[in-house]
Amino acid sequence: MNFNLTEEQLMIRDAARDFANNELLPGVIERDEKQQFPAEQVKKMGELGFLGMMVDPKYGGSGLDTVSYVLAMEEISKIDASASVVMSVNNSLVCWGLEHFGTEEQKQKYLIPLATGQIIGAFCLSEPEAGSDATSQKTTAIDKGDHYLLNGTKNWITNGNSASVYLVIAQTDAEKGAKGINAFIVEKGMDGFLIGNKENKLGIRGSDTHSLMFTDVKVPKENRIGEDGFGFKFAMKTLAGGRIGIASQALGIASGAYELALKYSKQRKSFGKEISKHQAIAFKLADMETQIEAARLLCLKAAWEKDQKLNYDLSSAKAKLFAAETAMQVTIEAVQIHGGYGFVKEYHVERLMRDAKITQIYEGTSEIQKIVISRSILSD
Ligand code: CAA
Repeated sequence: MNFNLTEEQLMIRDAARDFANNELLPGVIERDEKQQFPAEQVKKMGELGFLGMMVDPKYGGSGLDTVSYVLAMEEISKIDASASVVMSVNNSLVCWGLEHFGTEEQKQKYLIPLATGQIIGAFCLSEPEAGSDATSQKTTAIDKGDHYLLNGTKNWITNGNSASVYLVIAQTDAEKGAKGINAFIVEKGMDGFLIGNKENKLGIRGSDTHSLMFTDVKVPKENRIGEDGFGFKFAMKTLAGGRIGIASQALGIASGAYELALKYSKQRKSFGKEISKHQAIAFKLADMETQIEAARLLCLKAAWEKDQKLNYDLSSAKAKLFAAETAMQVTIEAVQIHGGYGFVKEYHVERLMRDAKITQIYEGTSEIQKIVISRSILSD
């Protein structure tokens, strides 16, 4: 087994680290406070190829592997998880879904501008009454011949206002259950498509999360993704990759907080020595480092399986579950190590602790990951 990264993977990791430190770190506290979308920074991410990392260069992407994507996501999430969720949704949910299941026309029209970062996308599955229980879609899309008529509400949509293209999951035939669900490409500005208020969130406050309302939106038939009834499978397959992205985000939040806590513990003195020399702190650091390494290995294994074209439903659920729990535990400890300083904004760890929480919730709660994992164990 070879744990070495290639020259190219190391280069991508270093480029992401430099970008995060030079472009995202300045202003990250202010953007969080003001709930300001990192528009300029996201534009630069697009120019550097971070928004279509795994997309084939013929569609404007960087043509990299999923391992490189995990490495870049970790580095960017260490500094700014609001920017990294934009990156994760655009890469894993929107671009990946379109590249793998879209028609050539859909790829030419939508994937190229998305992969090059000229525009960004959103993935719209969650509803007021269908978050975890994703087959219970209330949004309907009625077949009207040359178009579908879309009606309903979507909630907690990342990139809700900043996106230009929305992949919307809707029910087309209630009697068919999961097989009566389809996915559609909806453009901002289509008649009847309204964007609701921005959510005032605990964490990832720089990202824009909105509800979306669709009233008799005419979606052309050619905007359906895949065969009739493919929408639920489309969502599940896409989310499996999305979970690798969010697992890497959680990993980055954890490693960012750990690095700050480690540095602080070597500088801060109490009872006549650096606090890292007190076993109470040293043991915390040992636990944090071990959890992070385990989370990183799970993320890289899921990414490797995806790159090898193996089934990664299970490994992505495990990576997401473990990395999200790690992010929460490690960031709480990072605040504790900082003591009173950890509770104030300029030391960053309180923000990372707030940001960590969403990784246990979106793209499937920790409980959803346990459903996926336990079903797999019990089906054998
Ligand atoms: N790949 C392919 N097909 C799959 C699949 C997968 N990974 N998972 C399920 N399916 C298929 C099943 O085989 C089944 O098909 P058949 O009827 O042909 O057998 C069909 O889909 C229905 O599957 P289930 O019976 O397993 O469905 P379920 O109702 O029991 O739900 C679930 C399964 C895993 C709980 C699923 O509902 C789920 O993942 N829920 C969480 C949804 C989620 O992650 N939401 C996050 C929103 S997106 C987001 O957060 C983005 C953002 O903005 C950051």
